[in-house]
Amino acid sequence: MSQPIIAPSILAADFANLKKDIDVVNNSEAGWFHLDVMDGVFVPNISFGMPVIEAISRHAKKPLDVHLMIVQPERYIKDFALLGTNTLTVHYEASTHLHRTLQAIKAEGMQAGVALNPHTNVSVLKDTIKDIDLVCMMSVNPGFGGQSFIENTYEKVQELKQLISEKGASTKIEIDGGVTNKNAKQLVNAGADVLVAGSYVFGSENPIDTIENLAALTQQ
Ligand code: DX5
Ligand code: ZN
Repeated sequence: MSQPIIAPSILAADFANLKKDIDVVNNSEAGWFHLDVMDGVFVPNISFGMPVIEAISRHAKKPLDVHLMIVQPERYIKDFALLGTNTLTVHYEASTHLHRTLQAIKAEGMQAGVALNPHTNVSVLKDTIKDIDLVCMMSVNPGFGGQSFIENTYEKVQELKQLISEKGASTKIEIDGGVTNKNAKQLVNAGADVLVAGSYVFGSENPIDTIENLAALTQQ
């Protein structure tokens, strides 16, 4: 089992002092920046958009993992590529022509991700899994940080892991929502490669230590 990637979610950072929290991620054992873009349509909340990501991009020393919780995400593929996005994730539920969107993301030189809502069965990815670099499995309903982890996720991770191996795909599994020291190890054991953590990291007294502990816990 390779070492899981910890991806702190900037949604839970201090927006009045964003540079400080960007440096937390830069100076920690975190592997990626997780950036949640919400449009108030696909999800009830509105978060941040291009100007903020452009500012983060100027200071971030690690890959940008952008999670689009927006309708018609295919409209903005080029814009996110220009902002320095490494992995661009669209929601399955927001994509009428998912296969075309995945090809368009890759054509811009980015890794292509697909996010699944808690109610969406992993079997819907059967025909596209070989084209997907990352599946972002939502372990809360998308839209807000700080929600409780949905326990059914463990089973879904196992199902997805099986689908990936059956199809001979090299897709990474990312878990997003309610990740803490209580579920991190079990998620990695079930097959998770990337753990997104927002409030657990930035709501803690020492986020750098929290990231380190999360990383250590999942390596044991
Ligand atoms: C939720 C977002 C998550 C969120 C996770 O819609 O996709 O990335 O920031 O936050 P926590 O870790 O607080 O559940
Ligand atoms: Zn997210």
